[in-house]
Amino acid sequence: PTPLVVDTDTAADDCFALLIALLDPRADLRAITMVAGNVGFEQQVENAFLTLEVAGRPGGVPVHLGARTPLVRPWVSAEDVHGDGVGGQRRTGTHTPADEHAVDALVRLAAEHAGRLTVVAIGPLTNIALAVRRDPAFVTNVAELVIMGGSINGAGNITPAAEYNVYVDPEAADVVLRAGFARVRMVTWDPVTLQGTVFGPERIAQIDALGTTLSRFFVRANQATYDFDVADGIPGSTHPDSLSVLLALDDSYVLDEGEYAVAVELRGEHTAGATVFDARAAHRPVRAPRAVDGERFFTYVRDLLATR
Ligand code: BDR
Ligand code: CA
Repeated sequence: PTPLVVDTDTAADDCFALLIALLDPRADLRAITMVAGNVGFEQQVENAFLTLEVAGRPGGVPVHLGARTPLVRPWVSAEDVHGDGVGGQRRTGTHTPADEHAVDALVRLAAEHAGRLTVVAIGPLTNIALAVRRDPAFVTNVAELVIMGGSINGAGNITPAAEYNVYVDPEAADVVLRAGFARVRMVTWDPVTLQGTVFGPERIAQIDALGTTLSRFFVRANQATYDFDVADGIPGSTHPDSLSVLLALDDSYVLDEGEYAVAVELRGEHTAGATVFDARAAHRPVRAPRAVDGERFFTYVRDLLATR
């Protein structure tokens, strides 16, 4: 199995992404690292522990607390999208976070699994940027970095120009994208989230009909995102974080992919946090899917949710 760390602002799709990392036998999840993002930090930590419980692995993976704010800018929540991120569900257990800071855990695990560790970053990139700064070897120790963030074609979700994860901490994204990681894949909002990860009413009904612990958790935790996305004109809920973890384990879901140099807009009046994907640069270190097999991705998620 692939040794993995998932760096997350745990709410809704982050929870489902964690379920993949916890339950897919191809994953060896070594740690969950928490970063400021979607909802209040303490709520996100609760959501991560709840997800471990729902997966039947309470206490099974250490949860490390990381950056509580972006590097430079004030935190921007997505509570209008997610509510508390889990539809009011609460855990029963009392496990507590690991003592070690998330950034130290990232640096240590990358060294322990040098050349083999995959880091999947599905929140703002604050912790990853801090790990880059903390240990010069971190960048070379990480075998692959999968990022959910940005937009190839330019459409955003938090602003017309910016995707949420990059928008919240663009300075961190800038540090990470300049750091020189050998293998980087970005799962963007536009096009691939919209092309391949939308679960409309028919798909949600299929998940609901499973009647498992996992499917009940999913439907309830997903409702706020579903309603928000639909109000935004998308025909269902979006699942880019889940796709990111899955691609870290199996990239045969990618149908079409480009290679890019990626820059982050740090100053734009209307475009702060926008990403510029340059397919013409001489050096193009970032691979970004332009299309995935969305039907097969949905089937994978549904079958996983059927298992318990
Ligand atoms: C990203 O923002 C979050 O709300 C989602 O979990 C995802 O990581 C999408 O822009
Ligand atoms: Ca996320």
